[in-house]
Amino acid sequence: MTKEAQYKALMPQVEGLLMGETDPIANMANLAALLQQEMGFWWTGFYRVVGNELVLGPFQGPIACTRIAHSRGVCGTAWAQKRTLVVPDVEQFPGHIACSALSRSEIVVPIWQQGSIVAVLDIDSKEVGAFDDVDKRYLESIAGLVYGPQKDIWFAAGCFWGAQKFFKMIPGVDFTEVGFANGNLANPTYKQVYSDTTGHAECVHVRYNPDTISLERLAELYFKIIDPLSLNKQGEDEGTRYRTGIYYKDSSDLDILTQVFHRVQDQLGSAEMPVELLPLSCFYTAEEYHQDYLDKNPGGYCHLNPSLFEIAANPLADK
Ligand code: SME
Repeated sequence: MTKEAQYKALMPQVEGLLMGETDPIANMANLAALLQQEMGFWWTGFYRVVGNELVLGPFQGPIACTRIAHSRGVCGTAWAQKRTLVVPDVEQFPGHIACSALSRSEIVVPIWQQGSIVAVLDIDSKEVGAFDDVDKRYLESIAGLVYGPQKDIWFAAGCFWGAQKFFKMIPGVDFTEVGFANGNLANPTYKQVYSDTTGHAECVHVRYNPDTISLERLAELYFKIIDPLSLNKQGEDEGTRYRTGIYYKDSSDLDILTQVFHRVQDQLGSAEMPVELLPLSCFYTAEEYHQDYLDKNPGGYCHLNPSLFEIAANPLADK
């Protein structure tokens, strides 16, 4: 069985296991047991962010160190760098913390809640090079379920700097990243997309807890930050890369999105609304300096009116 097939077979069990349980420790405990048993890992467990360090949580495998400082080891580095780390050979990773001398490779996946990392999933293997992008993809989606259900949706709303700031402020949005969607070139750089020849749209990937914020409300909020009648131009930004659209992976999202689109169209009358509503065909994460750009550059360019951020912070205020 391929690794992809193994994970595919595992996903219904993961969902069944976590369904209806909201206690994160209970979910961590069962997930560690399931992953360890079904995937044959050497060590599978969680560290929770407590103050300024990671503290050992539920795990399966040999005993492990209980506390890891920020930026230390693979776990502390994944936390600091806010991204999944795949370490093919732990001996080549400067500062690796060897809890078990038998660990040879490792993957650490941050777990987000309300825009912050609250825990990491850490898995070790006795084989060198055991983890790859398939593990990363599945383990990110599994880790995302620990604190409740999660769904994903992609919004193209003109320049992604302001759009990311808007979406990440919405309570119930657990994770955002900016990137390039639905174009023709794999792994494009910002510069390539900026040439407006690759077909990508600047886009914000939004991961949210549907128990806290609905897709319907997210889509309604999206329409507050775009000019839905403007083709390939939002604010001062012009080009196909600044086109507007909502892109989904889960086809069961289409009904509700279509309803929101119809409501907006009704308000606009007969004017044609060039906002796309399409399946996500591809998404490539943009370079690190574009991520959380306006946090890193508070006075930086933003095409959105500042009052919109108040709406994001209180998304149900006018409901
Ligand atoms: N190797 C980890 C420490 C935790 S153990 O693998 C369980 C690290 O370097 O952060």
